[in-house]
Amino acid sequence: MYVCLCKAITDKQIKDAAYNGATSMRCLNKDLGVATQCGKCAVTAKQILREHKSQV
Ligand code: FES
Repeated sequence: MYVCLCKAITDKQIKDAAYNGATSMRCLNKDLGVATQCGKCAVTAKQILREHKSQV
């Protein structure tokens, strides 16, 4: 599923980034470019990060 339409980033890419050590939105911004345009995906991206952290 696409999370960030502006940058065409999927939830899987965000999960992979989290698995590889991304711990914050800043990391996701830098690594993938999530939420660097309209910002609408930020809430969903944060939620995916949070879910990943709670599973670790
Ligand atoms: Fe992610 Fe627009 S949907 S920046």
